[in-house]
Amino acid sequence: MVDSLALENEYVLPTYEKFPFVLDRGEGCWVWDEEGNKYLDLYGGHAVAAIGHSPAEITAAITKQSAKLLFYSNLVYLKVRAEAAKALVDFCGEKGSQVFFCNSGAEANENAMRIARCVTGKAKIVAAEGGFHGRTAGAVAATGYKYRKNMAGLGCDIVHVPFGDLSSAETALKDAAAFLLEPIQSVQGCTTATGEYLNGLAALCKQNGSLLIYDEVQTGLGRVGAPSARHAFGARPDLQTFAKALASGVPAGAVLATPEVSAKVKPGALGSTFGGGPLASVAISATIKAIVDKKLTENAAEMEELIRATFNFPQIKEIRGKGLLLGLVLDRPSKPIRDALLKKKIIVGGADDIHVIRLLPPLTVGPAEIGLLRGALEEIFSAETVAA
Ligand SMILES: Cc1ncc(COP(=O)(O)O)c(C=O)c1O
Repeated sequence: MVDSLALENEYVLPTYEKFPFVLDRGEGCWVWDEEGNKYLDLYGGHAVAAIGHSPAEITAAITKQSAKLLFYSNLVYLKVRAEAAKALVDFCGEKGSQVFFCNSGAEANENAMRIARCVTGKAKIVAAEGGFHGRTAGAVAATGYKYRKNMAGLGCDIVHVPFGDLSSAETALKDAAAFLLEPIQSVQGCTTATGEYLNGLAALCKQNGSLLIYDEVQTGLGRVGAPSARHAFGARPDLQTFAKALASGVPAGAVLATPEVSAKVKPGALGSTFGGGPLASVAISATIKAIVDKKLTENAAEMEELIRATFNFPQIKEIRGKGLLLGLVLDRPSKPIRDALLKKKIIVGGADDIHVIRLLPPLTVGPAEIGLLRGALEEIFSAETVAA
C-alpha cells in the first residue's frame, strides 16, 4: 500500500502542522482514516463542513451540474449564479444587496477592501489587531502581528488598532476607506466583540464616510446561531465577506454589499475568472438551502446553550464565542488536552491563545456528539487530577 503520509511529506511544502493520519472519507460529523479509524470531527474540516462532511445534496448538485456545464466565466449570465447570489442575499443580506463571487476568504477580504477604496476614493484601511483575514498580500497586511511580521513591503496602507477600543478607532478612521474586523476573532481564540463596540464602529464609519467590513468567513452562514454576525450582534456592516462553509468544500468566496454600496460599484472594478462558476454556484445554493431547511442556525444556538450548561469543569475558566464558534479557555495550555482528545478520536482546534480549545463542528452536531466530547474531557481532567 502507498504510504500517503510519507508521499505528501515528500512532495508538499511543509507549511502546516498536520494531524498524524491520512483521511479517507467523511459523513456528517464523522471522518475515517485510511486504516478505518473513525473520528468525531468537532473542527468541521476547518469550519468548512457546516452541513456535515460530503453531504448528499452537494454531491448530487455538483454531479448534475458538472455533466451539464462544468465552467463558464462571468462574461456570461448563468441561472445557477443568479440563484446562488439570491440565496446569499436572502439569507445574510437585505433587499437590494448584491454579491461579488470569488474563490476564498483571503480573496473575499481583498475584494471588500478594494470595493471600499473604489467607493470612498480613500486608500487607508483600519483593521482590528488580532484578526485573521487570509494570506494574500492585502489580507495578511490586515491580519494580526504574528502573521504579518517579517513581511516587509506589503505596502497596503493598513493600520491596526486594538480590538474593542472605540477611541483609537475614532482617531484612525478620520481618513480611512474602511474598518475591517472579525466580529469573533476565531483564530485568535474566539475573542468576541460586544454589540456596543460594533454599533459604535458602525456609527464612526458613517460619520467619517468609511465602510464597515465584517469578515464573516467563520461567523457567517448560521454558525453563530444567527444567519451572520450582522444578525447576531445587531450592527449593520456595509460589506460582509464569506468563504469556508459557503459551498461546503467546493472553493468559493463572496462579498455581500448593502444596496447603497452596491449602487456605487462600476463594471471593471473587480474581476475573477473562477468566482461564481457553475459548480461553486450550485454548491452555494444547496448549502444555504440545507442550513435553512434543516434549521441548522437554530441548532447552533441550541448546542451552544447545551455546551454552556454542561461544560462546567473547573479547568474551563471561560467559554468565548457564539453558537458553534466557541473557545473553551482552559486554566492551562490546551495542546496536551487536544492531544488526549485526539487519542480518543475526537478532533478539536487550537488557537493563537494557547489556552484555548476551539470548537467549529458541523452545524448538524447533536447532543449525542456533544456528550461524547463532555465525557472525554471528564475522563481526561479526572485522570490528570488522579495523576496530580
Ligand atoms: C476569519 C477568516 N478570514 C479569512 C480567512 C482566509 O480564508 P482562506 O483560507 O479561504 O483564504 C480565514 C481562514 O482561516 C479566516 O478564518
